[in-house]
Amino acid sequence: MDPRESQSLLVLEDGSRILEVGCGCGNTVFPLMEENGRPFYMACDFSPRAVEFVKKNPNYNEKKCKAFQCDITKDDLLENVEEQSVDIVSLFFVMSAIIPKQMDEVIKNVSKVVKPGGLIIFRDYGLYDHAMIRFAPGHKLDEHLYVRQDGTRSYFFSCDETKELFESNGFEIEQNTYVFKRTVNVKEEKNVPRVFVQGKYRKKI
Ligand SMILES: C[S@@+](CC[C@H](N)C(=O)[O-])C[C@H]1O[C@@H](n2cnc3c(N)ncnc32)[C@H](O)[C@@H]1O
Repeated sequence: MDPRESQSLLVLEDGSRILEVGCGCGNTVFPLMEENGRPFYMACDFSPRAVEFVKKNPNYNEKKCKAFQCDITKDDLLENVEEQSVDIVSLFFVMSAIIPKQMDEVIKNVSKVVKPGGLIIFRDYGLYDHAMIRFAPGHKLDEHLYVRQDGTRSYFFSCDETKELFESNGFEIEQNTYVFKRTVNVKEEKNVPRVFVQGKYRKKI
């Protein structure tokens, strides 16, 4: 997700603790740190290579951030993060990589580290996004669930599903909406419709 867009989703107060799940190489977390260095940032990913990449970034500083390896479907977040200590968790394009039957457990895992009153902010692929439409026949595994050439899964969310997923795990909906954009590449003469689901879900006190 473009970190400039995530700025509009976040109110970053001094002393806040922020966790990005599925951080990849840190394309969100480092721009946020640059913009506002006061919160403490944590970032995890199940790929050890991604975590190494984050740790080798010249802006990585253990006083300000912590990167750790974690498969959010299996590893207890409490091994690395204190219970009910995080103000904001971001889930940007990570839930779509998780198979539907594991999603509920993932949100329960994340919820353990969120403070009462804390936020989960979410953006991921929406139903009928261009990425879904261009899957060739034979790549559909189940309703809304597809497999890429490299074997990774991609799920496409409806707003009803995200509403149910977060409400059933003790979160109140502050935002839960489709975002419509276009990906334009003039050189490749590409101009395609994109559909994302974006949400802000607040943990009940
Ligand atoms: C599409 S990238 C998104 C990276 C970043 N959040 C962003 O928006 O730029 C998805 C990331 O989620 C990670 N991921 C996928 N499944 C995961 C899991 N079960 N636990 C933790 N991370 C996972 C992948 O390794 C990958 O780095």
